[in-house]
This record gives sequence, structure tokens and C-alpha cells, in this order.
Amino acid sequence: MTDQHKTHHHQNSENLTPQESWNNLYSEREQVWSGKPNATLVALIEKYQPTTVLDLGCGEGGDVIWLSQRGWAATGIDISDVAIERARQAVEKIGVEAEFVAADLAEWRTDRKFDLIVSSFMQSHFDDLDRIGIFRAALELLNVGGELVSLSHAGMPSFMKEDDPRREKRENLPQPLVEAHTLTENDDRFEVKLAETRSRTVTSPDGEEGTIDDGVLVIKRVR
Ligand SMILES: C[S@@+](CC[C@H](N)C(=O)[O-])C[C@H]1O[C@@H](n2cnc3c(N)ncnc32)[C@H](O)[C@@H]1O
Repeated sequence: MTDQHKTHHHQNSENLTPQESWNNLYSEREQVWSGKPNATLVALIEKYQPTTVLDLGCGEGGDVIWLSQRGWAATGIDISDVAIERARQAVEKIGVEAEFVAADLAEWRTDRKFDLIVSSFMQSHFDDLDRIGIFRAALELLNVGGELVSLSHAGMPSFMKEDDPRREKRENLPQPLVEAHTLTENDDRFEVKLAETRSRTVTSPDGEEGTIDDGVLVIKRVR
């Protein structure tokens, strides 16, 4: 990646750390995400027998809470301690049990193993988030038979203007087929179960209807 590319896409003007940037985003509003579990994630895993699950970049904990309510022993991790504090308060209020860790996934390590690892939109405008490095480390935490299920923004909403500064080139967004290949080539412990893009309808803040492409990636540890 060239410096020019970095400056254009990822540098924030105030030179904040990623943790500070995410904390700022969360602090701007009382609640940033809907609190509801992601519908695509629900469709993918609702039939699974609940055991142990780890959520990478869990934000305010919407997915973790849903998983806990369905009987999963769930752990959520996020770099923003503001988001993690909110997630902890939410589970307390609802009366479910879940564990939350405020940590940078680029550095966080554990000896624990999980049957399921989920990750919804673990993407960043603020830094060159190393998704592949984080997923590689996460795959090592899977029990045999376990799965990594990742959802990502694979395109921009159709209503986004051509000159919107938040617009990312499609090739700079994670593409499930590319990630699947990178993560599993030359490693027969892992099999790609699903790597595709799914379009869903979205409404803009101004009420405009549109579509957006989500990347869906499921990798199973088979041995
Ligand atoms: C787009 S949000 C998605 C939040 C949540 N998964 C959801 O779907 O509502 C991305 C999340 O990734 C977190 N994140 C970004 N970089 C991270 C890192 N290096 N380690 C852990 N979490 C990170 C951010 O704090 C943010 O909460």
C-alpha cells in the first residue's frame, strides 16, 4: 500500500489513536448501533447448538446480547472501552450474562478456544485495520468443527453520492472471496463454507431507499 493511499483512506487529521477515534465516535451519541442482532448473522447461525462464541469488534454488544439470550456463552471484544462499557450496562439491564473485553484485536491473545467466532463489520476508517492478521489469529482459537462467520461492508450504499468523502473504492473494501482464499490457502485445517456478497435494502438517513452489498464469509476448522 502506498503512502498516498494511506493518507487518502485511513489517516485521521487529528492524529488520534484508533482507540481514541472509536471512543470519540461512540461518545458523540448515546447509542450508535441499533442494538438488534444483524439479520444476516441471525439467519446464518440461529440453528446452531449454542456453545461458546467470541465476537470480534462487538461494538455496543447487540449481537453478543442476542447470542447470550439464545444460550451461548458469549464473549465480545472491542477496542473502544466506551462501547464495551455500554455493552456491559446493556447486559446488566437486560439480565443476561456475557463477558466483554476492551482490547485491541491486533494485540489481544488468549489460550481459550471457541466453537464459533463472529465478526460483523470489523472495518475502520481510522487506521489500516489488519483484518487478515486478526482473522488468522482468530482461526487459531477455533475448536475442530468450529466456524468463523464474518460479515463485512463489501460496497457502498447505492444512494451514496459519487463525491461523498466516505466513499471507498470497492477494491479497498474486504471482498469475501479474496479473504477466503488468503486465509485458507495452504492450510488444510480450514475449509471455506461460504464466501459471497449479498445485497440487502437500506434506508438512508434522509429516508431514501437503496441497496448495499454485504460480504459473507464462513470458514470451518475441519481438523
Ligand atoms: C462498524 S463497527 C461494528 C460494531 C458491531 N460489530 C456491530 O455490528 O454493530 C466496528 C467495530 O470494530 C471495533 N474495532 C476497530 N478496530 C478494532 C481493533 N483493532 N480491535 C478491536 N476492535 C476494533 C470498533 O471499535 C467498532 O466498534
